[in-house]
Parts: sequence; structure tokens; C-alpha cells
Amino acid sequence: MQGSLRRGPLACVSWLLLKNCRAHSRFPSSGCSSPERQQGHAVSKDFNSRLVTGPTFQHFLRSASAPSKKLSSPEAEDPPPYLTEDELLGRQRKVYFETYGCQMNVNDTEIAWSVLHKSGYLRTRNLQEADVILLVTCSIREKAEQTIWNRLLQLKALKTKRPRSRVPLKIGILVLKIQKVCFCASATSAWSIMRGCDNMCSYCIVPFTRGRERSRPVASILEEVKKLSEQGLKEVTLLGQNVNSFRDNSEVQFNSAVSTNLSRGFTTNYKSKQGGLRFAHLLDQVSRVDPEMRIRFTSPHPKDFPDEVLQLIHERDNICKQIHLPAQSGSSRVLEAMRRGYSREAYVNLVHHIRESIPGVSLSSDFIAGFCGETEDDHLQTVSLLREVQYNTGFLFAYSMRQKTRAYHRLQDDVPEKVKLRRLEELIAVFREEATKANETSVGCAQLVLVEGLSKRSATDLCGRNDGNLKVIFPCTELEDVSSPGLKVRAHPGDYVLVKITAASSQTLKGHALCRTTLKNSSADYCSEWMAPLH
Ligand code: 5AD
Ligand code: SF4
Repeated sequence: MQGSLRRGPLACVSWLLLKNCRAHSRFPSSGCSSPERQQGHAVSKDFNSRLVTGPTFQHFLRSASAPSKKLSSPEAEDPPPYLTEDELLGRQRKVYFETYGCQMNVNDTEIAWSVLHKSGYLRTRNLQEADVILLVTCSIREKAEQTIWNRLLQLKALKTKRPRSRVPLKIGILVLKIQKVCFCASATSAWSIMRGCDNMCSYCIVPFTRGRERSRPVASILEEVKKLSEQGLKEVTLLGQNVNSFRDNSEVQFNSAVSTNLSRGFTTNYKSKQGGLRFAHLLDQVSRVDPEMRIRFTSPHPKDFPDEVLQLIHERDNICKQIHLPAQSGSSRVLEAMRRGYSREAYVNLVHHIRESIPGVSLSSDFIAGFCGETEDDHLQTVSLLREVQYNTGFLFAYSMRQKTRAYHRLQDDVPEKVKLRRLEELIAVFREEATKANETSVGCAQLVLVEGLSKRSATDLCGRNDGNLKVIFPCTELEDVSSPGLKVRAHPGDYVLVKITAASSQTLKGHALCRTTLKNSSADYCSEWMAPLH
């Protein structure tokens, strides 16, 4: 683990340990009349300035792993020691992680945990048992930041009430900017293949926090996928802010004069790029490494779905038929203000084209409610897009103005907070209704599920994911194994199981297991009788 950490861009992780909760001492006492939000802002200001000047996680790691040894390429001079050597040792202290945000953050939490584990920390899932509490977040949306401040206020109480007989409670915030993850404790893994973004959507802070788009060399990605396959991993998710804009220019090669193929009706905010190894090439190569390994990717940009990518997803059994297609709005007027580079019409045409090219594809999307200048009519157009596309999964946000962005400088954040939230709630309700309908079409079908482990709610149920990445819950019973007829087995994490779906909601499917199988077998004749809709 340490090896992969050293290769990763850890200098980008900002680590703020609120040593002895010093930041909290700046909070006015609970009897103070200042509004909570103001407290948050005061601490937020302090937090931001300390982030800039404070130590990075790499500094922490250097000290934790080899106090006297320097890494070969420190990106900056070491800041003065922030924690004593003694404080860095775990001494069986229990660390509790609370992760906010997307899968990337969940994966990054595992990196942090593996480092702390090495230094002698134990992990606890029980907040009351914790000696160290770490809040893990990135800062795409202001709401995430606000949530952290509110949570800190709550945690302060734990610290104050703590009996003197216990070691002092430490509370820290880990602000993530890294995207490289290679943690292999389960059957699935995810890591970054590219970082940054050149799109400059007017609401988005990512181009400022993550920098320009850059991709890892195909050869090194393939090497890692091979290693993961040898370790028995069954699913790999390729991550990137614009994962399908991947372009490996690391090797000298023929630079075709033909510029990049964009999805029809889509434009870019930047000068068109040429040459390099593109996403279709990477996907092709990665999916050939191990036919039993599922390949997913997120988060793509809708502009970069040329036909060769769609064709590949359709043809390869182990590339999941699941596409995240962030729309952000259903109104062409708002899309223009957002500088997304497409109209509603072009987006809808792309959805139809994807559905024709990849029958049965599962679609998800991101939407922002209440962007600058969004009228009630614009909002209704977003509602109608949700109904028209009927996504399987959705990520919906209220707009929060971010400093540095184009919208911050040029547009008015003129939709009142109350209206934003009301619109957001309406979008969530419509999305749920439509997702339930979309997911109900699987009832009566048999689906291939990769088992992840026991269901959180019941020790007698297993939980896994179908090809569309939807959670599937089913009882853990004895099953026939397709590779050894007559043999009765129980499914374990990392096994593929064919599950007949019996119920669906907007977020979960339920069913019962038919047999343990392989990815290859599930697409062969043996299973076709199971795979057909049964109603
Ligand atoms: N306000 C609200 N949502 C935002 N997103 C990005 N920036 C903002 C913002 N300023 C959402 C977009 C993006 C997702 C990762 O976060 O929907 O696709
Ligand atoms: Fe880039 Fe996505 Fe942010 Fe647009 S929304 S600037 S594509 S990261």
C-alpha cells in the first residue's frame, strides 16, 4: 500500500487536524447570540487560511512512515512539525471516518485508513468509541463545506463531555484533492486515469481546484489492471473528472490531423485537440485484460461519446452497460448560461442514440436546481427532461455560487434559497418516481450480480450490484454452481450470481439467487433462459 501511495500525488491532499480541537475554541459559547452560520463562516475562514499554510497529508505520511527519511521529490519545503512523533503513533487508538461526497472520496478514505492502520491505529464504526474522528470531504459544492461546519459543532459536544479518564479526543478534516486510488480490500477497485478539467462550466470550481486535464499513460494503467486481475479483483472503475475525455499523449506517435470526434451537436469551450490515445483505445485494452473483470467508468462528459466508444460498450460483455450522462439542466437557455456546450435537443438526441446503440443501457445524471437566472419555465423543462429520459439513478443539487467561477464574476445568484430548495425537492420527487418505473422493468428478469457482501440490514441477505450498478439484495441460500453442475455452494464476495428480480424501488432491487456463474457464462446460452424476462 505504501508503495502505491508513494506513486500517488499525495502532495495534493490537504490535511487539517484540529489538534485538540483548537479551531473549536474560537466558536462562541453556546449561549452566544451569533447565528450558527456566522460561526461556520468564521471557522471556515480560519480553516481556509490554515489549509493554505498548513501541512499536507504527504507531510503527515512522511512523518508517520519514516520520520527521519525524506521522499525523493518533495513538492515543497517541509512545514514545521505539526504533530509530534508521539502523536503520530496510533497506540491502538480508534479512528472513526465520516466520509462526505462521491465514490472517489470513499476510496480516498481507504487510502487514509491504510496509512493510519500501518501506524498502529484501530478502526471503529462506532462514533462513541472513537479517539480520533476524521471527516473526509472535497469541496465541489458549498453545501458540503457547510455540512462539515455544522457537523463540527455537533462533535464539539462529544469532546467536551468526554471523561478525563480517556485519551483526549482529536477531530480532523481531510480535504481531498487526490484522485489516485488503488486499494484492494474488496472485489472492486477504483482509481483515477485522468485528472482535471478544461471545460470551464460557468458554475464549477473544479478547473480551478484540479487544474488542466491530464491523463495517465495507457501502459501504466494496463499494468495496474493486470495486477488487480491477478489479485482476483472482479470490478474496476476508471475514474476522472471527464473520464471519457482521456487522451494519453505520453508516447511519440502519429498525430492525426483529424480533430477529436465529439458527440453530434456538442461543442467545447476550448480549442479542439488532436492526437493521443483516446478513451475508446483505453477501454478496449482494459476490457481485454480479464474477461471476468467488470469495467465501469465515471464521470464522463456527454460531449465525448463518439460511436466507437458506444460500440465497444455494446460489444464487450465485461464493460458495464451503464452510462452517467450529466445533463445539469433541461433548459437550453440555462445550459447556455452554464456553458455546457449543448442544447436540450442535442442531449436528448444523444440519449436516443445511446439507447439505440446499447440496448438495455442504464442511465444516470447530475442536475443543478436554481442556477443563476433559472425561471420557473426553465425548471419545468428540467422536470420534463427527467420524465422524458427516465434515469435509473440521479444526483441532484441545489446551486451554490463558488468563488473564482465565471458565474461568480458575471452572473447573479438570483434564485432565492427557498425556491432553489423547493425546485430541488420537486426534481428529487420526479426522479424517484421515474427511477422506480425504470427499475421496475427488471422485475421478472434474471440479472447478473457481483456479490459485495452481507446486506447492511440483514445478516441473512447478500448485497451486490447489477450491471447497471444498482444495489441488489437477495437471501443467502445454497445455489447450484454453473461450472460444477450438481455442486451446491454459497455465494461469497467477488462471486457472480444470477438473481431473479422480484421487486424494485428507486434505489434497490430485490430478488432470489438462481445460480452462481461466471461473467462469460452469463452471456452464453446456458443462461439465456434465465436472462429472458419471465413475466
Ligand atoms: N453548485 C451546485 N452543484 C454543483 N455541481 C458542480 N458545481 C456545482 C455548484 N456550484 C454539481 C454538478 C456536477 C456535480 C459533480 O456537482 O451537477 O456534475
Ligand atoms: Fe468540468 Fe464537470 Fe466542472 Fe464542467 S461540471 S467544469 S465538465 S468538472
